[in-house]
Amino acid sequence: MALRAFKGVSPTVPASAYVDDSAVVVGDVVLGDNVSIWPGAVIRGDVNHVRIGTDSNIQDLACLHVTHKRPEDPEGAPLIIGERVTIGHQVTLHGCTIGDECLIGIGTIVLDRAVIEPRVMVGAGSLVPPGKVLKSGYLYVGRPAKEVRALTEGELEHFAYSARHYIKLMRAHQES
Ligand SMILES: CC(C)(COP(=O)(O)OP(=O)(O)OC[C@H]1O[C@@H](n2cnc3c(N)ncnc32)[C@H](O)[C@@H]1OP(=O)(O)O)[C@@H](O)C(=O)NCCC(=O)NCCS
Repeated sequence: MALRAFKGVSPTVPASAYVDDSAVVVGDVVLGDNVSIWPGAVIRGDVNHVRIGTDSNIQDLACLHVTHKRPEDPEGAPLIIGERVTIGHQVTLHGCTIGDECLIGIGTIVLDRAVIEPRVMVGAGSLVPPGKVLKSGYLYVGRPAKEVRALTEGELEHFAYSARHYIKLMRAHQES
């Protein structure tokens, strides 16, 4: 089964969201409307919470987790994803914050307490180190991820396009 409770807390999945049967969503995870979770993705909200905003998509084999709370770190590191965000295939997100309308490229790793401001593109295969802040409106690539250039108007428009495209695609999958 794709949805599993942990310590009495079950994921919250609105009727408008889509979780593929082969994905695993555990514990304190709240999905916004029209969120799609694609085959093989794992979202584990066991030792902290995960929040995914409206119209975002989490693509195949993505791995999302959090860091636990302890006396010297009482909040730990939850995972917060904004609205209209595209998380590419095989991305790993750990205890970080992703702003609205970002695209995290295929195979990228984002570590604890990194903050990706709204409308950032992270190129495929990048690594965002712990606590790093990526600023709004820029393209970052590499390991570690470095600022490359400002995004073009077309790229900025693509964020919302990508979100809309994935909503259409999930409806088609639900109807198949
Ligand atoms: C980074 C990206 C946006 C291309 O940006 P761009 O400005 O058009 O870059 P170009 O293709 O002109 O390449 C410029 C240079 O960056 C390099 N480059 C391109 N993508 C790169 C990446 N992800 N990481 C490191 N270097 C990269 C190119 O090899 C090239 O290097 P060179 O100048 O030494 O030849 C694109 O390659 C990318 O990674 N897109 C993400 C796609 C994705 O994962 N989508 C999610 C799908 S659902």
